[in-house]
Amino acid sequence: MPDMSDHRPATLIPGGAVFPHRHLTGIEGLQPHEIMFLLDEAERWIMPNAEHAAPDKRLAGLTQINAFFENSTRTLLSFEIAGKRLGADVVNMHAAQSSVKKGETLIDTAMTLNAMRADVIVIRHMSSGAVRLIADKVDCPVLNAGDGRHEHPTQALLDALTIRRRRGAIAHQRVVICGDLLHSRVARSNILALTALAAEVRVCAPTTLMPPAIERMGVTAFTDFDAALDGADVVMMLRLQTERMSGGYVPSPREYRLRYGLTPERLARAKPDALVMHPGPMNRGIEIDSSVADHAERSAITEQVAMGVAVRMACLDVLTRRARGVEGWA
Ligand code: NCD
Repeated sequence: MPDMSDHRPATLIPGGAVFPHRHLTGIEGLQPHEIMFLLDEAERWIMPNAEHAAPDKRLAGLTQINAFFENSTRTLLSFEIAGKRLGADVVNMHAAQSSVKKGETLIDTAMTLNAMRADVIVIRHMSSGAVRLIADKVDCPVLNAGDGRHEHPTQALLDALTIRRRRGAIAHQRVVICGDLLHSRVARSNILALTALAAEVRVCAPTTLMPPAIERMGVTAFTDFDAALDGADVVMMLRLQTERMSGGYVPSPREYRLRYGLTPERLARAKPDALVMHPGPMNRGIEIDSSVADHAERSAITEQVAMGVAVRMACLDVLTRRARGVEGWA
């Protein structure tokens, strides 16, 4: 059972939905209706974003710090754009420029961030659990932008939103997640979100990259990708996370592609209208062939990026409502 002890009493928000959490450190601990609420909130930003519509500066006057202790391109950019679209003053802090390199402890980092009086802090960190630790020490809402192998909640939300829009529903969709499950926070958060929303989740990896007892998360585990793909509605490919690997987890990239690469021939085993997803960055020609990644009808990869901005706008908005005194949060 998720630890709910740190969650404040449920607060009513406009529309009658309930979002009681101060931080977003993971999908774990979120109720299915709370996940759905965040997806519904994200929906409202999709059209304005697509149409460059008149800005809604509801975060004007607020300071958003993006504290990234690990490299990132799209997630950092996505959070920066999301904050700026909503009118926040966005400041980026990169690990390379920070005192972390000089040996500062995580607690000191948290205290420093707190002393800056940010209104919301977005954190990416290479250590699992680091975001929760900082969240416990600061006075403002904290959003996890990926911590070690632990969670990447906004990625799971944007993936769920993409699936819901493209497939019409999440419940009962057969979603195959294939790749480096052992090192993937994206997989963990996606499994938590998709099983909570009643999707049928299949995971597939070589045994060396399969977390032990993963079935306990409510998924079916496969080592044979062809078998896993049978009748799939969604195929989500993961990157081989070589930076998190210390040994020989796979014989060679060529060997890996032969057994676990998403090729057009393999995709034919899924449903004819199956959706192809990848959180990026992709290793083209290893876990996914370019012809599949760029497929006009089947690939949702660029849509995922667009949904990412909408989801992050929703999360920044929802988590700062209490501080902004939005009705229902007093
Ligand atoms: C993922 C991440 O950083 O966890 N990428 C992302 O956020 N877009 C996945 C990865 O690095 O492979």
